[in-house]
Amino acid sequence: MNDLKTALGEAVGAAFAGAGLPPELGRVTPADRPDLADFQCNGAMAAARMATLPPRDIAARIAAALEGNGDLTGVEIAGPGFINLRVSAQALARRAAEVAGDPRGGASLADPPRRVIIDYGGPNVAKPMHVGHLRSSIIGEALKRIHRFRGDVTIGDAHFGDWGFQMGLLILATADEIPVIAEVIADVDAGGDPVAAEAILRAHVDLPLLERLYPPAAERAKRDPDFRDAARKATAALQGGRASYRLIWQVFADVSRVALKRDFHALGVDFDLWKGESDADPLIPEMIADLEAKGLLESDQGARILRVAGPGETKKKKLDDGSVVVVESPDPLLVVSSEGSAMYGTTDLATILQRRRDFDPQLFLYVVDQRQAEHFEQVFRAAARAEYAPREDLVHIGFGTMNGPDGKPFKTREGGVLKLADLIAMTSEKATARLHEAGLGAELAEDEFRDTAHKVAVAALKFADLQNFRGTSYVFDLDRFTSFEGKTGPYLLYQAVRIKSLLRKAADQGAVAGAIVIAEPTERELALTLDAFNQAVVEADDKSAPHFIAEHAFRLAQVYSKFYAACPVLAAADEATRASRLSLSQAVLAQLETALDLLGIETPERM
Ligand code: ARG
Repeated sequence: MNDLKTALGEAVGAAFAGAGLPPELGRVTPADRPDLADFQCNGAMAAARMATLPPRDIAARIAAALEGNGDLTGVEIAGPGFINLRVSAQALARRAAEVAGDPRGGASLADPPRRVIIDYGGPNVAKPMHVGHLRSSIIGEALKRIHRFRGDVTIGDAHFGDWGFQMGLLILATADEIPVIAEVIADVDAGGDPVAAEAILRAHVDLPLLERLYPPAAERAKRDPDFRDAARKATAALQGGRASYRLIWQVFADVSRVALKRDFHALGVDFDLWKGESDADPLIPEMIADLEAKGLLESDQGARILRVAGPGETKKKKLDDGSVVVVESPDPLLVVSSEGSAMYGTTDLATILQRRRDFDPQLFLYVVDQRQAEHFEQVFRAAARAEYAPREDLVHIGFGTMNGPDGKPFKTREGGVLKLADLIAMTSEKATARLHEAGLGAELAEDEFRDTAHKVAVAALKFADLQNFRGTSYVFDLDRFTSFEGKTGPYLLYQAVRIKSLLRKAADQGAVAGAIVIAEPTERELALTLDAFNQAVVEADDKSAPHFIAEHAFRLAQVYSKFYAACPVLAAADEATRASRLSLSQAVLAQLETALDLLGIETPERM
């Protein structure tokens, strides 16, 4: 099943081939002037350069060859040689019926399907999540759904940050704060019973404690070199396998994971795997041995580093004393620190090895803040040098920031990092106010109303994020995000709910859907829009850019609105017209819900 754009592209391509020209020239695009045509082909201009004929002459030959095509009612040549195509009402009706009858809304499958691992979310033990984690979760979840919808074997992994310096910091900070914890650590170090010790640790450690202790500990490490050294040693001891530290670390990780899972779940984000940086730890010794054997590591001030810059790749770097030097770029990857610890890049490299063994992915996507671009460049080049994965299979899907009104990454009014749970609660509250204001949901029972407000809130946050190309930064504006008017998530939910209510009414009246007939201009536009979904999905997949789907969903809702205003459905002039318009409405609703679902947005039944 092809969409019209693809089918017409093939027909026009055949016409070019018939004229002895490359068929790729037949590519068609939606018309720039929808008042004149549905699709256009610009290939005659390129062909003119090869064939030394004026483009209009070539266009005329192509148009003549297309004369017998029953799907076209008009082929016209415009300007310097644009070929304008008008699709017949029959072809539009046929394609709309195909979309209506297809549970995939007319979208094709990837051929062949690929094995894809998507690394997104990336929350850390105890460290509060910031807007980078929020955006990563929203974009990554959408990409995971898009790949799965395309038929790819897709695995989403949270890549929990549970193995770095912050673990050493937290061990010291909790032992300092709670004497029993210091005692338990000493007891296990002296050979005491780990089961009893674990029970005591679990009774004393909870998330509020970790969240309270982490910021001052991180702050102290910045100004107090002795404390910093102690935390580094603690981190190295944990990684080296000190039993008491492993025990308390496990408790930290469990406590954080439970809370994080709950918050992500409220945002409609679910990972297939909750692996962490620590899961790659068992592979690190053999990986380092392998890197050594391949001669890839070098000593640098007591550390082992892996150089990734090519010849002549340099950048200017400012030193602490203010002088500027030229250094290699990207920086070398720090594989083993001078304390003997694994670093952020070490676990990332070992995780590539692990993923290679577990799933053998053809594509590794890392949905992480654009500010980590250099880190990924280092890791990916290192992986390629070590032959763990080809460079082109490793892709950093970077994104811009969500900013506050001051143009800086969003913070709360108190200047802190906004917690995900608080953000959702705040947005739900706003959504509730918006529903009341618009007189919506008044007849819903309390539970359903609350559920609806939650869905409106999630739609508001996600659509505000996903409607822009991911590289673009945007300003957090809850008023605008939650409005039922404009290009917003709530607007789309409202349109979907309106169609649901129309269809319920039709069912009550015993009106049934039937064969699609395309007659009115807005019916044509609607059929063309339904047809365009496949292209939006393919493009979102190709460019790892969910905004193509967001854009499509918005356009579909708008075109349906226009259609609905111009073409009465229940009050249609005759039964056949009503049946056709009901079919179109069903197809729009199904495709809209599919598109929203790909964005991670759920539609309520009513409002
Ligand atoms: N935990 C990291 C952070 O908070 C993000 C992890 C991203 N994924 C990765 N494989 N490095 O910055």
